[in-house]
Amino acid sequence: PLRPVLLSGGAGTRLWPLSREAYPKQFLPLVGERSMLQDTWLRVAPLAEAPPLVVANEAHRFLAAEQLRQVDAGAEAILLEPVGRNTAPAIALAALQASADGGDPLLLVLPSDHVVHDAGAFRRAVAEARPAAEAGALLTFGVVPTAPETGYGYIRAGAPRAGAVRTVERFVEKPDAATAQAWLDEGGYYWNSGMFLFRAQRYLDALAQHRPDILAACREAMARAARDIDFVRVDAEAFAACPADSIDYAVMEKTRDAAVLPLDAGWSDVGSWSALWAASPRDADGNAHHGDVVSIDCRDTLVHAEKLVATIGLEGVVVVDTPDAVLVAHRDHVQRVKDVVARLKDAG
Ligand code: GDD
Ligand code: MG
Repeated sequence: PLRPVLLSGGAGTRLWPLSREAYPKQFLPLVGERSMLQDTWLRVAPLAEAPPLVVANEAHRFLAAEQLRQVDAGAEAILLEPVGRNTAPAIALAALQASADGGDPLLLVLPSDHVVHDAGAFRRAVAEARPAAEAGALLTFGVVPTAPETGYGYIRAGAPRAGAVRTVERFVEKPDAATAQAWLDEGGYYWNSGMFLFRAQRYLDALAQHRPDILAACREAMARAARDIDFVRVDAEAFAACPADSIDYAVMEKTRDAAVLPLDAGWSDVGSWSALWAASPRDADGNAHHGDVVSIDCRDTLVHAEKLVATIGLEGVVVVDTPDAVLVAHRDHVQRVKDVVARLKDAG
């Protein structure tokens, strides 16, 4: 059966100051009325053949549980991480839980902070990807790149595999700007959407091959987990000892079994302010405004205003006004918002 895995443990630091440690972006209604976590569930609900596996940080357990209840996600116990160790371990916890529940389900791994405008096209793509994943591929959905973004993984598609599914000739996580530009010019590359489809056991096998240290730590953390009706609390000591790494570096760059299905469903990762700008409705001058904004002679700006904000003569600038912090940055530099958060953490 197909079992969705909702990854909800990210800190969302690149959307500071709206996204905060206590309330990261996946729990916010950034685009639309529901939170991105809720939208993620609703998008896949018609496909789910088993209750979703949700992996979240311990600190957000009530937020996650309450938001999922509101959309009738029917999640059994939510897996709680005492600390974030990135996506390779988070997915390992879900795969181990799925195996313990019996069988070898197909896991549809979904970040909880993406926007997909055409949910129907997305669901059709999942159906199309299924045979390859059932046959053992570690499948990702690829998106045609539109800019030399450095925050994404890049995939060079190879030979056809099954239907529109292709083998992955090369997978490079977060290349530098010059490389990203060169590949954009060259063509034939896709962005890794960060959404994956594979059998639970296939992922565990790949981890055993490429990162046995991560698998061993996750096994230990699950073996010693404390379980109650609502939550599975992964063992803190064992999980803290797990190396941190993303599935992209730990598995996808290394495996020979990667496959990609091109996805054209209006996907966007609202991972940064520039991405949120791109995913938002804009006026004729390219400005996306939320809240009370007076703008004169501005182009391609993103303004989030909780007070009245006025902007004059700006181009490509992001302004995010919240009650206790304001961000002003150029769109080309917003990836570095995470450096601001790191500095605040050091100071504080
Ligand atoms: N449970 C859990 N625990 N979830 C996590 C953790 C963790 O430690 N770390 C991240 N996540 C969740 C995030 O909340 C997000 O939903 C998803 O996993 C992906 O993590 P990101 O931190 O947003 O990854 P990224 O955007 O830098 O890169 C990934 O996504 C890109 C597309 O958006 C990679 O897969 C790239 O290759 C890809 O292009
Ligand atoms: Mg992301």
